[in-house]
Amino acid sequence: FFIFANFACSCTFAKMSLKFTNAKRIEGLDSNVWIEFTKLAADPSVVNLGQGLPDISPPIYVKEKLSKIAAIDSLNQYTRGFGHPSLVKALSCLYGKLYQNQIDPNKEILVTVGAYGSLFSAIQALIDKGDEVIIIVPFYDCYEPMVRMAGATPVFIPLRSSKPVDGKRWSSSDWTLDPHELESKFNSRTKAIILNTPHNPLGKVYTKEELQIIADLCIKYDTLCISDEVYEWLVYSGNKHFKIATFPGMWERTITIGSAGKTFSVTGWKIGWSIGPNHLIKHLQTIQQNTIYTCATPLQEALAQAFWIDIKRMDDPECYFNSLPKELEVKRDRMVCLLESVGLKAIVPDGGYFIIADVSLLDADLSDMKDNEPYDYKFVKWMTKNKKLSAIPVSAFCNSETKLQFEKFVRFCFIKVSSLCIFKSWTTAGSTHFT
Ligand SMILES: Cc1ncc(COP(=O)(O)O)c(C=O)c1O
Repeated sequence: FFIFANFACSCTFAKMSLKFTNAKRIEGLDSNVWIEFTKLAADPSVVNLGQGLPDISPPIYVKEKLSKIAAIDSLNQYTRGFGHPSLVKALSCLYGKLYQNQIDPNKEILVTVGAYGSLFSAIQALIDKGDEVIIIVPFYDCYEPMVRMAGATPVFIPLRSSKPVDGKRWSSSDWTLDPHELESKFNSRTKAIILNTPHNPLGKVYTKEELQIIADLCIKYDTLCISDEVYEWLVYSGNKHFKIATFPGMWERTITIGSAGKTFSVTGWKIGWSIGPNHLIKHLQTIQQNTIYTCATPLQEALAQAFWIDIKRMDDPECYFNSLPKELEVKRDRMVCLLESVGLKAIVPDGGYFIIADVSLLDADLSDMKDNEPYDYKFVKWMTKNKKLSAIPVSAFCNSETKLQFEKFVRFCFIKVSSLCIFKSWTTAGSTHFT
């Protein structure tokens, strides 16, 4: 009986298994750096400077608002699908000030599940099979798979670094695009360029002049711009964040993406937003209404109330949009010194909360690591195992052709109070010696 049952079962499996194959659009997109390296860093003895989640406390008023709202029955039910009315109103007021233009809360804003949700709905709504999308390398890792899932072809262009002037620290501003190389990527099939400023993982804050070059090309080649600005408030002394959507001729062709997770240090809330002209946003709304439909009401209401507090004190140093970058700048500088003290060459970021460092100078003995991986993957695995410190390999932010160019770099997150202390005691104890 058992033999027969087993045979019958395996025949059924063999017959059904054809139906188990994945949809073509996700072919080859199954590996993910966060899943792989978060698992590695799960060991409690490992200091996790990998994934960008703050361990500083979010502002007290943000947490208090949420706990009060949870007690109001009506705010625990579904809300407007394209964005809770009070949140889109607050966003329209805030961004109206920044754009110096009115933004229609109902037609020009879409609230999404994190900035990821905005990227997904923008790409699904606007990018088609046969289109080309320009992606600047290194890039936030989901851009490439999202473009491929839409059936389009990503076209990559790397940021290239000039050597820092003798005696000066290496800076994210040393990494630039070659304007001629950039123009060579545009053609009549180019549907969009994805821009990220301040940049993850480099921390580059694009200057007005750099953005003007991109804007001119978008207009010349009639191209859309998806501008990921989740770190818009995290800009350090001597730098300024510019919104490409405010450049002449760009509003009508730009979707600008923001994130509550980055704005208020509440990454677990997963609320983001897209802002743009109604003729583009309405297509993103179509994706949203047919996918997730609506975002969590209490989170949106709490955010709306928190935004009003900071909107009313934007010129005040206490405003979270001003106080967080001040606090982080100190951590950035300390982290640069710590990295340098163990022999890593850091690239000082002008924005965001990551630092990348050249780890090749350490000459770590990676002979125990798997051979078929880029140098930085091996290095991070070695460092996690031997030094109990985890980070993210920068080649994970590259397409296959540019991995070699970035495989000597590793990304460290510095919005981590406790981790920095542990890292400090570890580095001073174990000192210069990673070997
Ligand atoms: C550049 C960039 N874009 C988008 C996201 C996703 O943001 P969210 O958590 O709001 O989905 C991140 C998160 O780290 C990011 O760094």
